[in-house]
Amino acid sequence: MCGIVGYVGHRQALDVVLGGLHRMEYRGYDSAGVAVLTDGKELVVERKAGRLANLEAALDVKGRATFSGTAGMGHTRWATHGAPVDRNSHPHRDSTGRVAVVHNGIIENFAALRAELEDAGVELSSDTDTETTAHLIALAYDHGDTAGDLPASVRTVCRRLEGAFTLVVTHADQPDLVVAARRSSPLVVGVGEGETFVASDVAAFIEHTRDAVELGQDQLVVIGRDGYEITDFHGDAADGKPFKVDWDLSAAEKGGHEYFMLKEIEEQPEALANTLRGHFQSGRIVLDEQRMSDQDLRDVDKVFVVACGSAYHSGLVAKYAIEHWTRLPVEVELASEFRYRDPVLDRDTLVVAVSQSGETADTLEAVRHAREQKARVLAVCNTNGAQIPRESDAVLYTHAGPEIGVASTKAFLAQVAANYLVGLALAQARGTKYPDEVAREFAELEAMPSAVSQVLATVDQVRELGRRMADSRAVLFLGRHVGFPVALEGALKLKELAYMHAEGFAAGELKHGPIALIEDGLPVVVVMPSPKGRAVLHAKMVSNISEIQARGARTIVIAEEGDERVRPFADELVEVPAVPTLLQPLVSTVPLQVLAAEIARARGYDVDKPRNLAKSVTVE
Ligand code: F6R
Repeated sequence: MCGIVGYVGHRQALDVVLGGLHRMEYRGYDSAGVAVLTDGKELVVERKAGRLANLEAALDVKGRATFSGTAGMGHTRWATHGAPVDRNSHPHRDSTGRVAVVHNGIIENFAALRAELEDAGVELSSDTDTETTAHLIALAYDHGDTAGDLPASVRTVCRRLEGAFTLVVTHADQPDLVVAARRSSPLVVGVGEGETFVASDVAAFIEHTRDAVELGQDQLVVIGRDGYEITDFHGDAADGKPFKVDWDLSAAEKGGHEYFMLKEIEEQPEALANTLRGHFQSGRIVLDEQRMSDQDLRDVDKVFVVACGSAYHSGLVAKYAIEHWTRLPVEVELASEFRYRDPVLDRDTLVVAVSQSGETADTLEAVRHAREQKARVLAVCNTNGAQIPRESDAVLYTHAGPEIGVASTKAFLAQVAANYLVGLALAQARGTKYPDEVAREFAELEAMPSAVSQVLATVDQVRELGRRMADSRAVLFLGRHVGFPVALEGALKLKELAYMHAEGFAAGELKHGPIALIEDGLPVVVVMPSPKGRAVLHAKMVSNISEIQARGARTIVIAEEGDERVRPFADELVEVPAVPTLLQPLVSTVPLQVLAAEIARARGYDVDKPRNLAKSVTVE
């Protein structure tokens, strides 16, 4: 949530910063702002509520030449404290206008800090928690031991802050440096030739460099033209962790697609292949990082999967596979609920934390809670070096590439595949599967990118169906077994993209209440199990469809190719290739993503930036 970028180099900072903000707008689009240290040694700021386009229009009115300078920073906001209006937009400045700050996160003790500033006669001009830091940094810079020393002033203030934050700070008196600091919120450094960047996400600077450095917890970095210097909040030198970004600019651009989400749906076969690549070596499933012993893995006697939103749905799918393959009990829990209910955890519990961004606050806090209780944590993550993998005992990266559309698509499919790998890794460690069985399961997974390509080749029918459904008031989704989480995921996609009432149900639950919702013409999407793989469930599902059809529902059925028994009950039939039962979500989710995107487009909505949402939810 909130995208931050800072730059010192040889290019015009405004161009670099705006380019970075464009690629980070998915992190929040309530407002955007920039600050540039100009050649005339002034700090100039512009900020505007609404999308980045509003800021750009304001810059044009002011004249971009006003912003000529080679150091600066920018921000794209997802509002937490204070309504999304101009005066709450970042950057925030102190009363003299010499210090500017952009911030991602929440400063939990801001009320006390604000009261302290007000008592000292400082007038605050916004409702944000961020503005307090600009005033405090200015005070530290003007007085006492830290006078004239911007990094030291920022460190002093950071030590007083509670909560999660990334701050980027500039001072008019320091035209050649930008200071950034982090606690529990993302911040990476980009290292170029004669130029250095800081950003919430490597996407902000990928156009200029793929050499990045990860910052640790409670660290501060000073960037200049000649490089960077990292310290902790007490000023002691610290090391960052250098890494090379393994994707390039084209991955962060639309490549001819109208929306990132549509591109990311298309990229799913490749994302799946990349998730699997390198995770099966010499006949064994291997993780990317393992700071726990093989014996620890063998000793696991219970698994929790904790995650939010779509990632949680990937966990619900995983439960079926992990329990089946390992005979371990698996509980899947919303991360926001997990730590508040005193779950039973000990050193033999494995908590699998699934997060695309690796920075979701609820999931991060669940990880911390689990580790405090001595449980081991295995992170499934799509973002190299993010906070959740850093704080985990083992990591499996999905390598799906950057996901910029706010609604998860390729990352979800990659999470499902990665969770299967976790299940196989556990089965292999515990010996509940022989090596040749693990190899067979892996080979079945390897066939999935091509199965997903087959689905993608036939989705025009789904698009056309989506356009016809654009006027629906509500849509229900039904599934059984692994089809149930797929139904939940289909409903979530429709809610978030098309702002349409949508619910997913386990089909067996229908008669226990939800069937009362069925009325004439109500679209009901049904995710069918395979007639061969799960004949009993298939038969029960056919009965469920006939029950709702009899009550007037319009049935849209996602079924395996050649499933003739379901055809008479399907007002609309969408066929997907036959695949092993446990892997079915990898094919049956795809038409539901396309359906939601198409309904949203037909209703005139921006599918990349659904209202009220942001990609990385870094507040609880
Ligand atoms: C839905 C969606 C969200 C995320 C959730 C978790 O399309 O994208 O529900 O899945 O916010 O995000 P991560 O995986 O980054 O922890």
